[in-house]
Amino acid sequence: INLTKYVDALPQMAKIRGYGIWHGRPVPIQLTIGMYQTTWQFHRDMPPTPVFAYGQTPETATFPGPTIVARHNVPLYIKWENHLPDTHILPWDPTVPTAIPKNGGVPTVVHLHGGAHPPQSDGSAFAWFTRDFRETGPNWTQQVYSYPNVQAPGNLWYHDHALGLTRASLLAGLLAAYVIERPELETPMNLPCDAHDLHLIIADRKFYANGSIFMNTTGDVPSVHPEWQPEYFGEVITVNGKAWPFLAVHRRLYRLRILNASNARYLNITLSNGLPFHVVASDSSYLFVPVTVTNLVLSPAEIFDVVVDFSLSTTPEIEMLNSAPYPFPGGNNTDPNLDGKVMKFVIIPYGQDDDDDMPADTSSVPKHGVPYASVDSVPPPVASRYIVLYENLTKPDNLSTRLYINGLRLEDPPTEKPRTGTTEIWYVINLTGDNHPLHIHLGTLQAIKMQQLVDPNDTFKNCMLMLNDTGRCNLSNYVTGPTTPVPDEEKTWKNVVKIPPGYVTTVVVAFLLVDTNQPYPFDATAQPGYVYHCHILDHEDNAMIRPLILVP
Ligand code: C2O
Ligand code: CU
Repeated sequence: INLTKYVDALPQMAKIRGYGIWHGRPVPIQLTIGMYQTTWQFHRDMPPTPVFAYGQTPETATFPGPTIVARHNVPLYIKWENHLPDTHILPWDPTVPTAIPKNGGVPTVVHLHGGAHPPQSDGSAFAWFTRDFRETGPNWTQQVYSYPNVQAPGNLWYHDHALGLTRASLLAGLLAAYVIERPELETPMNLPCDAHDLHLIIADRKFYANGSIFMNTTGDVPSVHPEWQPEYFGEVITVNGKAWPFLAVHRRLYRLRILNASNARYLNITLSNGLPFHVVASDSSYLFVPVTVTNLVLSPAEIFDVVVDFSLSTTPEIEMLNSAPYPFPGGNNTDPNLDGKVMKFVIIPYGQDDDDDMPADTSSVPKHGVPYASVDSVPPPVASRYIVLYENLTKPDNLSTRLYINGLRLEDPPTEKPRTGTTEIWYVINLTGDNHPLHIHLGTLQAIKMQQLVDPNDTFKNCMLMLNDTGRCNLSNYVTGPTTPVPDEEKTWKNVVKIPPGYVTTVVVAFLLVDTNQPYPFDATAQPGYVYHCHILDHEDNAMIRPLILVP
């Protein structure tokens, strides 16, 4: 379908305050948020279409869902309710490891991405539940999740995480932003706020002619996977649930919290008139020092929180452009379906709208972010691990791809059992042709080195297999290639690290609170533990995901 661009205004999702006020102080509360089947209109010229959406009521459920604004150190309790119908609105595939309830219904479970919280509230893929908790998965323990919000302030998001259904349920709309605020640290930064502090949740979709969300109904190898495809790509870019929207902006600073919520598409964004992004934060952490760049590469699930100074615009309109090939980075940049447009900003001319009465812009780009422990001042690593990403073929037919980590599945016994309160070094070795966004639950990540493998082929793979089996193989024979610097805007405690193909990426993983260097004030060693995985959702579902069990 041919959609006219820039005809829908960019919406902002409703904000829900994640704390109460008692005698002027923030206090813990409990919220109820439901998952509903409702309808959503993605474009002026398309009819409303069925989606799954989060909301406090069916009438207020939106795509993406409401933004939850929590307060540092004020626990928030959320009862997540499944009000979804008996069948999914999108196809799913029983041949990948999947939650399949005996009595029908759509299994769901909510994960707060970037959050430090107890395992029982982490949204284990096996802790799913169907409508009214009629049926629950093997790891299900409780209806109400607790989020202690003890970590540093930053941008998180919440989304579905049910086993084997993540790609379909996020595609259907179960995703939304979550912010942890800490005014005593953030107010002095003097960032743009209120109407000038906006979320941009970018997600690609493909649509049928009737406006409904398209998802493949046949797999890459239908005899093996009747539905599963290695990556979902849609040629329509939506921002906050609107296809190629526009936003009217004043000549002043704006804060834009940009999340790539696509299943598999990477973004490499620029502004058409060359205006820079002043990056103040990424994922759930501020940068130590803000960084100015003219392009940003966002993997699926990656967040950049930027300030843009529209007062310096030399043009009345500014397009946000995307030049990332797909798959990334090896795809074809001249693909006609890489439309290259994301959204448009339209400058409100002086003297129009409320501009005359608008108070002068007193916000600024801060000189400093939040003082976290740097990679050098966290406790020294107590363990190192090799994490190998490579594609196996299904056995015995060699027909279809499986994307295991270290050749293991989620159901295989846990091999990553870090000690809570410590840090580790992970050497993440990517023998595939694609970049993979590595995401760890609970822990935070920081890449410190990216080094090319001299021989990223079978010799190296054999070495890795031997290393897994026998612990013997001299990796240093292979890891001698040139290094690529970690971009400055990614030098903070991340929730997602991009792992380039043919490289070993050295990642510091911290299983503690990186702003205070203190252990978590909750029991992270409880069952059912956590997971780490590739955040290309089609990979996560089949089955680039492994357990992560913390030990005392
Ligand atoms: Cu954003 Cu395990 O997920
Ligand atoms: Cu992947």
